[in-house]
Amino acid sequence: MNPPPAPPAPLLAVRGEIVHFLADPASHGATALEHFADGILVLRHGHVAELGPADALLAKLPHGTTPLDYRGKLILPGFVDTHVHYGQTDMIASYGEQLLPWLEKYAFPAERRFADPEHATAVAEFFCDELLKNGTTTASVLPTVHAGSVDALFAAAEKRRMRLVSGKLLMDRNCPDFLRDGAITGDGAAKALIERWHGRARLRYAVTPRSAFTSSREQMTLAGRLFAAWPELHLQSHLAENRSEVALARKLYPEARSYGDVFERFGQFGERALFAHCLWIDDEDRERLGATGTAISFCPTSNLFLGSGLFDLAAAQALGIRVGLGTDVGAGTSFSLLQTLNEAYKVLQLQGQTLSPESAFYLATLGGARSLYLERFIGNFLPGKEADFVVLDAQATPLLARRMANATTLSERLFVLMMLGDDRAVAATHVLGDRV
Ligand code: GUN
Ligand code: ZN
Repeated sequence: MNPPPAPPAPLLAVRGEIVHFLADPASHGATALEHFADGILVLRHGHVAELGPADALLAKLPHGTTPLDYRGKLILPGFVDTHVHYGQTDMIASYGEQLLPWLEKYAFPAERRFADPEHATAVAEFFCDELLKNGTTTASVLPTVHAGSVDALFAAAEKRRMRLVSGKLLMDRNCPDFLRDGAITGDGAAKALIERWHGRARLRYAVTPRSAFTSSREQMTLAGRLFAAWPELHLQSHLAENRSEVALARKLYPEARSYGDVFERFGQFGERALFAHCLWIDDEDRERLGATGTAISFCPTSNLFLGSGLFDLAAAQALGIRVGLGTDVGAGTSFSLLQTLNEAYKVLQLQGQTLSPESAFYLATLGGARSLYLERFIGNFLPGKEADFVVLDAQATPLLARRMANATTLSERLFVLMMLGDDRAVAATHVLGDRV
């Protein structure tokens, strides 16, 4: 196991242009966002102590405290990736298939390699560094069926003091033998992992039935029971991503009213449950997601790459469903939440909807935190929250600099950043106050 990480510095002040959200701009308009053109964020032991305009706060700082100077750059809460497969890091950008053949041809063979703990550790280390390089400080991650893949991921995240939600994939049908788990053995392995990791450092366990079509009824039953049995446990899966997958799931569970109903009847809807995609759900499914507090991860780069479909954000918002953004790497094509916002905008354009820059950055920060029920800890800079933040450089590339020269408002600058930005625009990432 890793040595315990060094405690965060006792007091730190950070100066720059600061933006964060107190609410959802889609429902609260302009008051949802707080903006300090020249602001200071004061941190104590890795948590937010105070936030305000520099002229007021500079005078209050204890003698000898020099703020870390990010003037000319934008400081935002750390990004939240609500759905990403670390087991698919090495096959991102694999050509030519839609979901079901893509799983067979690319995802399953890549995941097979995680039977080797050394491979798992090497990928986990790279993966966590890649998240941080992109300004992502919290993620809900899908590993593989191997318990060792979960140990490697949580250990890599703990070493970096990241907030991470994850849990071993449960999968006992419609997959190759080399990844097939028994319903009972999978349940036992998950329980041992919960004992080991759930609630340790900033880590939380998510019961992770990969999907309804890769789990038997027995496995779905055990997964629902496990989700209910342990305090603060999360649950994550995939729902209604691709039309052939929907047909397969309906065939496997003819007793269910709908695809969403499959999960609900096994006790898998509720607070801290989060489903990726939800493209082909019906109105009643949507209503049930909203009524039970179940969240959706909107994964635009993946949905376009696999030709899966277009997510209806307006319909989800109308019902108050918690929505976050997911990169869904390796079906998603970028670790960058800026690039994910770029494609989210286009997905909504295709449906006659829009994504304002404010709504976009809300989704990447507080919206993501809410969809994971972690807003008590992260998502904005209210006092007491964990001080994870990203520093964006709007001049990072020659093109960004040229375009920014013509941007007059904060809204316009945020929009250009999400359309043209990627990891090059991330000047720094801080976890619990410390630069990583
Ligand atoms: N549905 C079941 N498994 C997967 C997966 O690994 N990726 C995606 N995009 N959808 C899935
Ligand atoms: Zn996925």
